[in-house]
Amino acid sequence: MSSDLLFQNQTQFNFEEFFMPYDLAVQTFIIKLEGIRQQYRKKGLHSPIESVTGRVKSCQSIIDKIGLENINLQNLEALYDIAGIRILCKYVDDIAVVAEMLRNRRDVDVIKEKDYVHNSKSSGYRSYHLMSNYLVETIDGVKPVRIEFQIRTHAMHLWATVEHRLKYKYKGEIPPEIRERLVRAASATVSLDEELSAIKNEIEEARSEFTANRGSICDLMHWNY
Ligand code: GTP
Ligand code: MG
Repeated sequence: MSSDLLFQNQTQFNFEEFFMPYDLAVQTFIIKLEGIRQQYRKKGLHSPIESVTGRVKSCQSIIDKIGLENINLQNLEALYDIAGIRILCKYVDDIAVVAEMLRNRRDVDVIKEKDYVHNSKSSGYRSYHLMSNYLVETIDGVKPVRIEFQIRTHAMHLWATVEHRLKYKYKGEIPPEIRERLVRAASATVSLDEELSAIKNEIEEARSEFTANRGSICDLMHWNY
């Protein structure tokens, strides 16, 4: 359903205005975290942040979650995941580093955490979630918004996207044999993450050698990078 249609149903509720600070929060956080990744990179250090994406929940998925009849400011402001930021990491250990980085930020107030990395869901889902408050400066003043940060490895992310597609395909009712296979696939991601962590030093040495070589070539060519 488009926001126009919602406008007709909910004449008192201005969705455009409601979503605006969430949009701003997501846009600014992608830039802020991307900036952190670049700082590590420029210093030739391993970045705990590999990539950052974000999204504002669509009207339709908000309605699916709380029901059209419950759309009002109070209920919407109680949702944690209207603004979502997803951070991908190379190694499981990076997740704790990123979580600590977020807890220490002065612009973020972490109010709740969910550790599905060490306590995976029965589906097999793994990820670390931080729910936080964030103040957005708008032309109408400061607006508090909630942001849900999801921090996960590439392996966890691959599993989550595949499972999400299947849930969509089977309208939430994944057949038991496929669910079992997903649980097995999830434990394969645990092994992959463990194995990559175990050989992390080798990988990181190769990476810094590569960066150093590239640096000297760029120096030679007088490239500013
Ligand atoms: P909702 O699941 O959004 O209703 O919120 P909740 O309070 O149950 O929080 P939870 O931490 O369980 O889920 C928040 C978000 O994590 C979801 O919106 C998904 O993005 C993700 N997530 C949680 N569980 C799963 C899962 O089993 N599979 C996948 N693919 N994603 C999940
Ligand atoms: Mg849930």
